[in-house]
Order: sequence, then structure tokens, then C-alpha cells
Amino acid sequence: MVPGTGAWGLLLLTVAAALMLPTRPPGSQRAQIIGGQEVLPLSRPYMASVSFEGQHHCGGFLFRAHWVVSAAHCFRNRDPRTGLVVLGAHSLHTSEPTRQVFSIAAVVKHPEYQPTTHANDICLLRLNGSAVLGPAVGLLQLPGRGAQPPAAGTLCHVAGWGSISDFEDPPPGLMEAKVRVLDLDVCNSSWQGQLSPAMLCTHSGDRWRRGFCSADSGGPLVCGSRAHGLVSFSGLWCGDPKTPDVYTQVSAFVAWIWKVVRGSPPSRTAGLLVWAT
Ligand SMILES: *[C@@H]1O[C@H](CO)[C@@H](O)[C@H](O)[C@H]1NC(C)=O
Ligand SMILES: *[C@@H]1O[C@H](CO)[C@@H](O)[C@H](O)[C@H]1NC(C)=O
Repeated sequence: MVPGTGAWGLLLLTVAAALMLPTRPPGSQRAQIIGGQEVLPLSRPYMASVSFEGQHHCGGFLFRAHWVVSAAHCFRNRDPRTGLVVLGAHSLHTSEPTRQVFSIAAVVKHPEYQPTTHANDICLLRLNGSAVLGPAVGLLQLPGRGAQPPAAGTLCHVAGWGSISDFEDPPPGLMEAKVRVLDLDVCNSSWQGQLSPAMLCTHSGDRWRRGFCSADSGGPLVCGSRAHGLVSFSGLWCGDPKTPDVYTQVSAFVAWIWKVVRGSPPSRTAGLLVWAT
């Protein structure tokens, strides 16, 4: 069985509909990152907002001046030519002089991305120019080559512009929640055996609901000072401990990322979905 066919169903986190309270249907409550807080403006300068038609759609993070990592599912049924990457933002519904806006010159989806299982849910966005790095726009480090994913219990942070409940009411600014890495086997059991190896799960670790929600997809899970996860999927109810948050495990893709960024020979890029201007 694949995610989406289970009793809990699957909420694609790119859809702008979600909730904070478990007893309410999606869309009825204000919702962002669940159980988190607004961060100090521009304190997470690596955060990227991927938007379509002026609407925030997904998160991502800058790791090179013209490369952003995001989730592959963010680009399903989307024409990247109509997407923009916004850097240096805090509150998406106001105009901010710190912003730098880029078009997407190329989307490189992982060649083994599987929409039905969400395996390998990662893509790289090449921007149409280089970001100017400074206080408002900066890089987030990838895990080192050969790094292991953080151990169960590790405290990490997930950030995003989250989902808006009524399609009009965005969060006040970038939100962030503290979460703990959950053992993958425990998480896999909660997900009835639907998880693939290169995934990573988190939970709040206490009785409160904390985690990501719709439109946080593609954003980073930061453990220590590095991006160890990419928001991928969770259950129908955001923050529900019965369906823990699932991320793409970034450390499993570090070699692939550098291969793409450094430019691989054409034979090795065969099978990649590359769209270029
Ligand atoms: C990149 O795209 C943005 C947004 O479309 C545009 O404003 C900017 O001029 C472009 N930059 C370059 C170097 O083409
Ligand atoms: C999850 O459980 C299923 C069923 O036992 C197993 O086939 C799969 O490999 C497990 N996934 C992980 C990441 O361990």
C-alpha cells in the first residue's frame, strides 16, 4: 500500500488548505507551522519561498548563490517557467526591500522520485542569476559527504510560511517549530510500513502538536547548523502524532546534489527531468 490509500489518507503539503486543531476539518483554522513561533525577521536568511502566480506554494533553502533545494512534489503539474523564488523575505504579504526575486532557470528532479510513495522527494532549482549574499540572504550548509542522519531524539527546527486556512490569511511572518527526530522504524510502523529508507521523521516529543503543515513543503529541517531534512509529507491532520511528519533525508542525497551542481556529463544526467531556459 502506498501513502494516499491508507485510512489517514495523505495531505499533499503544497495545497493551501490546512488546520491547527485536530477536531476541525482542513481549511477551517488559521494554520502555519504547527505549534511554532514567528522567527526574528531575516534570522533564517537561507529560507526561500517558491511561488506561482504570486502565491506562496512551497519552501526551499539556498545552499549556493544560485541553487535552491526544494521538494520534487512541489513541481508536479506546475510549469517552472511561471514560478519565482523569493529570498530575503519575512512577511510575504508586505513589500520588503530585503527581497531578491529570481526566475527558475532549471528544475532538476531526482531521477528516482516516486510521486506515489514520495520516495526521493527532492529537487534542485537553478536560479536565473546569483543571489547577493548579505544579512538578509545567506546559505545553509548541507550535511557533509557520508554524514549520517541525526539520531532519534535530536532537537531540530523546521521553518516555513506554512499553510493559510482560508486562502487569504497568511502567517504573520516566517514560522518555526522545535521538533525531535523520531526513530524511523517507529515512524514506519505509524505509517503502516509505507516509508522508504531515505526518509526522516520528527515528532514534538511531548504532548503538544508541533511540526509542519501545508505549503511548508520543501523547507529545511535544520539540525545543528545543517539541513538534514526537507519537508515532504504528513497526515491529513497537521501535527497529528498518529501520522508523524516525514522529511526527505538530505544526507542520503548529498553526493547527488554535488554531482548536479558541479555539472555531470550528459550520460549521467539521462533520466533527470531538466527544464532549462
Ligand atoms: C531573473 O528573474 C527575475 C524575476 O523574473 C528578474 O527580475 C531578473 O531580472 C532576472 N535576472 C536575470 C539576471 O536575468
Ligand atoms: C517500512 O516497513 C515496511 C514493511 O515492514 C518495509 O518493507 C520497509 O522497508 C520499511 N521502511 C523502512 C524505511 O524501514
